[in-house]
This record gives sequence, structure tokens and C-alpha cells, in this order.
Amino acid sequence: MESTPSAPRSVAVFGAGYIGLVTAACLAELGHRVVVRDVVPQKVEALARGEVPFYEPGLSELITRNGERLRFTLDAEDALAGAEVAYVCVDTPPTAAGDADLSRVNAVVEDLVCAPHLAAVVVKSTVPIGTGDRIRERLDLAGLAHVGYASNPEFTAEGKAVADFMHPDRIVVGAADQATRDLVAALHQGVDGPVVRMDVRSAELTKLTANALLMTRISFANEVATLCEATGADVEKVMSAVGMDPRIGPHFLRAGLGWGGSCFPKDGVALKSLASNDGLHLQLLTAVIEVNNLQPRRALQRLKDELGSFTGKTVTMLGMAFKAHTDDMRQAPSEVVASRLLAEGAQVRCWDPLARVTEPQLWDQATRYQDPLEALAGADAAIVVTEWPQLRDLPWQQVAATMAAPVLFDGRNLLDPAAMRAAGFTYLSVGRH
Ligand code: UGA
Repeated sequence: MESTPSAPRSVAVFGAGYIGLVTAACLAELGHRVVVRDVVPQKVEALARGEVPFYEPGLSELITRNGERLRFTLDAEDALAGAEVAYVCVDTPPTAAGDADLSRVNAVVEDLVCAPHLAAVVVKSTVPIGTGDRIRERLDLAGLAHVGYASNPEFTAEGKAVADFMHPDRIVVGAADQATRDLVAALHQGVDGPVVRMDVRSAELTKLTANALLMTRISFANEVATLCEATGADVEKVMSAVGMDPRIGPHFLRAGLGWGGSCFPKDGVALKSLASNDGLHLQLLTAVIEVNNLQPRRALQRLKDELGSFTGKTVTMLGMAFKAHTDDMRQAPSEVVASRLLAEGAQVRCWDPLARVTEPQLWDQATRYQDPLEALAGADAAIVVTEWPQLRDLPWQQVAATMAAPVLFDGRNLLDPAAMRAAGFTYLSVGRH
């Protein structure tokens, strides 16, 4: 926790996505006055009415509670009037070349060069190494050499972003000068976590490295799971014992259908591309991505071996979001599962309590159910795609009796193999027997 006393600041946050809104609401909770600017009118109008455009536990309450210190606007000039700090939280989706697309970041920077009264520009968007140096040059060129620049990458995970912001493992602040590092650190006064000060390039790489290492752990667990399937070992037992070594730790060792979401897939490719642009081949990261791409396809191959063929079969997907407790479907493994099943001639049914469909042309070909029991009745097979905890409590014996064939592939190792077999299922999972 930062002990330096800090006065409330006026902050402009650019981008009302997951990162921008969580940052804005948490900074307001810390006492700062925050104006959020987004370019999508419907989003700004909805936020002004108190509606959060996506599901994130605790965020809506935080926005309401801090209504006095938080407002939303479409107008960059309005957001910047009186602002001391500008946070850049816009998204950086992949370009056709796999690099991070900086067009939205650059557009915000063009707004910022009209605000010479700023004390600092802080980038939270995940950006390639060297982006900060280029923004610095742009600010200098516009006569804003006196405005500090900082990289303050985000490590929050969807579904627990507010808690992660308020109780982070670390707050990374990269800046060229001590005054800017201190200013960004002071903004976090009241946050329960250590501030790590460094240079801008190191901060940019810290973010990408943390995500790449987490992806590596998951892909390694998935490779071990494949080995377990071939050798009769159990990946859950292996990984929980391996994770008891404090040098390794228990997190992100869960085998399954692999990682998805708005961050890992994009950041993995962005790091690989940024190295390739310098003529470097990140061999390990390349393999990590390849293992992940294979994971849902391997699962479907095993299920197909069990069914003989998918043609004309009805298959129920349990879960569509990229992980439980979120409505986010960006780059979810469910998209690969659904499109492969459809390509093989299956009738696809799906159930998810929250998922917000982002690829309608794909999901329009599937039938969505509100009730998992209805989605399962009459199906030839089911596949658990997202680890929704309520699936554990389904009356599986009853479900087995209503399915045309009680075949279940548990892509998240959520259910107990012995109990599922006792309920009458032909039960397959990842790296378990
Ligand atoms: C991830 C990181 O965890 C955050 O620290 C980071 O700030 C964020 O990306 C970002 O860059 O903004 P998030 O994408 O919200 O957060 O989701 P995670 O909880 O990390 O899960 C990512 C994927 O890995 C999910 O599809 C999940 O099912 C999968 N996963 C996770 C596994 O397959 N096995 C595991 O053991 C853990």
C-alpha cells in the first residue's frame, strides 16, 4: 500500500470497456473525480442511466456508489477539461498481421495532445514494447514535453476484476521519471498491493510476459493430460501434487479445452508477432499456442471416436463463455467446438446462463436453451465447455435417462468420473480415466 498522502485527482479515462470501467470505478472509489470518455453513444447513454453493458461482479454497485465522482461523456474535450491525469484504456485487437492494432490508442493520443494542462498520460491498454516511446515522441512534438508518460499495465481477470484492482498482487508503474512514477503510485493510495516502479519498456513487457507464462502453464498441463490419457495417470492428481511445491504453485495448472478470452489469445499472438518483427522466433510461445489450438480439436476427435460420426447427431454444449462467471465469449473455445461440430454435420444445441453472443453467424446455426435439462433431453452426446458450477448439481441419473445416448465429454474436468459412470454415462474427460 502506498503511504504517501495523496489529494484526490481529476482523471479522464478513455475507453469504457472492461479495463476502462473497472479502472474508472475503482479510482472513483479511491476518492478521485473521474470522467470516462467512449466513442459509442449507446454505451455512454446506458452508463449515464446506470446500466453496465457487460457482466462484471461488483462493478455496477461500485459505479452507483460513486455516482457523485463519476460521469460519462462522448466528448474528449469535456473529459479532458480540468483533468490532471489521462488514462488510456482502449482495446488493442489483433491486426491481420497478428500485431496489436494501435489505431484506437493513437486516436486517443491525438485527443490528448490538445491538453497541455495534463500532468501525466497513463496507458493501461496492452501494447507492444516501444509504444510508450512513440507516444512520448508524439507528446514532445506537440509541445507537451512537460507532461509525464507512464505504462501501468492491468493484471485483473474478468469475473473478479474489481477485487483484483483493489487487492492486486502488484501495481506496475513504468515511467522515465520519478515524479510520474510517484504520481501514478499516489493515485493508487488506498489500494492493498505493492507498487513496482520500473522503466516504460520493462512495464510493457511485464504485462505480456505474465500472460504468456500463465498460458504456458495451462498448455503444459494440457500436454501432461494427453500423456495421462496414454499412460493411465490422472492429470488432476499429478498437477495438484506438483503445485504443492511453492516454487511451482497451484494456479493455472487446470487441464481442459484450453484458454480463450479477450486477452490470452490476442496477447500470445501479439508477443509472438512483436518478436517476429525483430526477426526473433519465440519457439516455446509458438508451441504453447499450438497446444492450445489443438486442445478442443483433440476433445472432439475423442468424442467422435466414441460416437462413430457426428453426422446427424444432436450434441449439446454445456457452456459457451470462455470461462465461468462471465458473459464474455470472445475467442472462447466454444466457438471452435460449435463450428467443428457444425462442419461435421451435427445438430448443435447450447446452454449458458450468461454468455453474450458476439458471432451471430455461427451461433444462429445452433439452438440455444435456457434450461440445461431441456438442452440435454434427446441428445446423442453432451460436452462440458465452460466450468459453470451449477452443472455439478444437475440430476445426472435423470439426465442419462432422457438423453438418446448418455455420452458426455467433460472438457473442464468438472464432474466426478465414478459418479457419472454410476449415473449411467459413458464419461470422457481430459487426462483422467
Ligand atoms: C487474464 C489474466 O489472468 C489476467 O491477469 C490479465 O490481466 C487478463 O488476462 C488481461 O490480460 O487483461 P482473463 O482473460 O480474464 O485474465 O481470464 P483467466 O481467468 O486468466 O482465464 C483465461 C483462460 O484460461 C480461460 O479460458 C480459462 O478457462 C483458461 N484456464 C485458466 C485454463 O484452461 N486452465 C487454468 O488452469 C486456468
